[in-house]
Amino acid sequence: MPSHDQALRAALHNRQDLLTALHQQGTDCYRLFHGSQEGAGGLTVDRYGPQLLVQSFHQSLSRDELLQLAEQCQASLGTQLLLVYNDRSQGNSRIDRTDAIYQAEPAALEDLIGHEWGLNYRVRGRHAGQDPLLFLDLRNARGWVKAHSAGKSVLNLFAYTCGVGLSAAAGGASEVVNLDFAEGNLAVGRENGTLNPQLQPMQFVQSDYFPAIRQLAGLPINARRGQKLPHYPRLEQRQFDLVLLDPPAWAKSAFGTVDLLRDYQSLLKPAILATADDGVLICCNNLAKVAMTDWREQVLRCAEKLGRPVRDWQVLAPARDFPSQDGQPPLKTLILQF
Ligand SMILES: C[S@@+](CC[C@H](N)C(=O)[O-])C[C@H]1O[C@@H](n2cnc3c(N)ncnc32)[C@H](O)[C@@H]1O
Repeated sequence: MPSHDQALRAALHNRQDLLTALHQQGTDCYRLFHGSQEGAGGLTVDRYGPQLLVQSFHQSLSRDELLQLAEQCQASLGTQLLLVYNDRSQGNSRIDRTDAIYQAEPAALEDLIGHEWGLNYRVRGRHAGQDPLLFLDLRNARGWVKAHSAGKSVLNLFAYTCGVGLSAAAGGASEVVNLDFAEGNLAVGRENGTLNPQLQPMQFVQSDYFPAIRQLAGLPINARRGQKLPHYPRLEQRQFDLVLLDPPAWAKSAFGTVDLLRDYQSLLKPAILATADDGVLICCNNLAKVAMTDWREQVLRCAEKLGRPVRDWQVLAPARDFPSQDGQPPLKTLILQF
């Protein structure tokens, strides 16, 4: 494999101003190298507070390449970091946990704390899931939420580790509800709450998306023909001032299929109905092959058909640590004002 030296040097150079701004705003979690757009597809380097997380998705790095890369990042930042290498090139993006190439020091794999927009986040180099506990390309959306949630009721859908909820609480939301079906992810969300004791406590609802959002929206929950639905928590119909909809690209459950390519509408429609008349819905689509223009048309048409036309909309792009050569970043975010 050719050395990544030059590509990484350019990436670090291009980020100098951004990193200064991020440090000033209380952020030490960011992407240092976004390989697919910066000359080494399938390789990413992220800083999560005290930790340097290197991930390869196509080809494993050699030990020398890894150590050289880590050294370059540390020299550029002027900080020593705890190195964790997660090789995910084995198929289905699974982390190779054998540590054949580089054994992380125990301190690097401990529970650590990273910071974003002045908030504390749980950071873990390895855990039961595959992805890091904080998705860095959503940082600007979390910043927007923090700046626009004072006095608002906020619903965080597909909450994962509740970063958006935490940002809303920090922005002075009157109420924050995080919804996800994975208890393990919500548990990290609870930890994130505990790591920021000055904030109002958040609420956590462990439920499949479909029955939860349909109840909030006042829509019926239909079982597939001949099938009995699993248990789901009962919720009252109600609306929120600010709703965040950031689903995974694809997921199937007993209640329905999350499919951002073929069927965004069944996610979007109830989320619009659960948004207050003069509220805001922030919706995302992280599937690279969906073009912003097509998806935006779909989203605006869906709102129109529901009799809830969008008064104003705004695109929120990821920050410059996620550069995109064609100006079409995989994560697309729309802020819809009703
Ligand atoms: C890509 S993450 C969402 C990222 C998140 N919005 C954030 O701010 O980091 C996907 C999340 O959706 C959850 N999830 C997937 N399918 C679901 C479903 N049918 N109902 C509820 N949660 C679901 C997963 O447990 C996971 O936490």
